[in-house]
Amino acid sequence: MKCLEIKNLDIAYGKKQIIFGFDFELDECQIGCLLGPSGCGKTTVLRSIAGFEQPSRGEISLNGKKLSGFKTHVDPEKRHIGMVFQDIALFPHLSVEENIQFGMRSWSHEKRKKRSQELLDLIGMSQFMKKYPHQLSGGQQQRIALARAMAPKPSLLLMDEPFSSLDIELREQLAREVRLILKHENISALLVTHDQNEAFAMGDNICVLNQGRVQQTDSAYNLYHNPRNRFVAEFIGEGSIFSGVVVSKDTIETDLGKIKGVLPESLTKMANVEVLIRPENVVLSDMNEIQAVVKARYFRGSGFLYNLKTIKGHELFSLIPGKDKLSLDQVVGLRLKIEKLTLFNPS
Ligand SMILES: Nc1ncnc2c1ncn2[C@@H]1O[C@H](COP(=O)(O)OP(=O)(O)OP(=O)(O)O)[C@@H](O)[C@H]1O
Ligand SMILES: [Mg+2]
Repeated sequence: MKCLEIKNLDIAYGKKQIIFGFDFELDECQIGCLLGPSGCGKTTVLRSIAGFEQPSRGEISLNGKKLSGFKTHVDPEKRHIGMVFQDIALFPHLSVEENIQFGMRSWSHEKRKKRSQELLDLIGMSQFMKKYPHQLSGGQQQRIALARAMAPKPSLLLMDEPFSSLDIELREQLAREVRLILKHENISALLVTHDQNEAFAMGDNICVLNQGRVQQTDSAYNLYHNPRNRFVAEFIGEGSIFSGVVVSKDTIETDLGKIKGVLPESLTKMANVEVLIRPENVVLSDMNEIQAVVKARYFRGSGFLYNLKTIKGHELFSLIPGKDKLSLDQVVGLRLKIEKLTLFNPS
């Protein structure tokens, strides 16, 4: 059975429609992600799942039970859904332990005590049990907020940018850690973020949203290697898109020169296409097939990512492994190394 099933959801604020035909599914114990730019409607979707917004069309079901839909609206507190938000909302006057136990008020004292201890061990914060929120770091507070939301074993945990107030390195690390905790607890979860590293570290299934419409729902791997449209290609990872014309059954003529690869049968000669060039497709070459100037350089640990400008003025990215670095304004020779072409219809 599906844990979460959302079908054809429309949501509007007053007359302004924000979400258009949103579909999403989550298996039991799976972690889903809603990824998209600011203002695209991620929080709106999350609020409708929690029951704070009533959709104008479509259905939301949890473990086979309809929560929202035609003539149906289950109240938020009856949905058995946990939530963690961006701004940490721990109760300042309650200790760490009391905060975690807050959602288990109907449980017996022993059960509550046992469960909060279990969670504190799991998040590695048992020694902070008697501390108060102001005595903890941001990352520690966010772990406690998460433990509090997980404590009553919700059917689904919703997280709205829970790491965005933390610095970048901590964010990805915490996302990975939280993933392990959720898997250990067998809790299904949906994370909202606009940070693709966070989504990649956390999600089994990632839904890319733009302007209230689903662009693609897929694994991180497929979003990067098989983006369905230009938006996904540009939003996920670095890359450039070049216009071209099909000149033979395996060749496209572009401003970068001829690009060879397997083309779909449906493409006829002279058809206009757009080709995605990822940084790993651009390599140094003594043959000078493409000449470009180094405009910027970003350290990526195992190598450098370069932002390059071709002689004809086109922007390219290149990922070059190793510790040697090219200098800014240096002219370099490049060639394309493409195994599989990613093509789009011209927009
Ligand atoms: N209560 C509201 N009334 C009217 N419009 C709203 C309301 N809440 C959000 N909106 C509008 O709906 C759109 C989507 O907002 P939403 O908060 O869902 O975006 P988001 O993807 O979560 O963005 P962010 O990443 O910045 O949090 C925005 O244009 C926003 O201005
Ligand atoms: Mg939001």
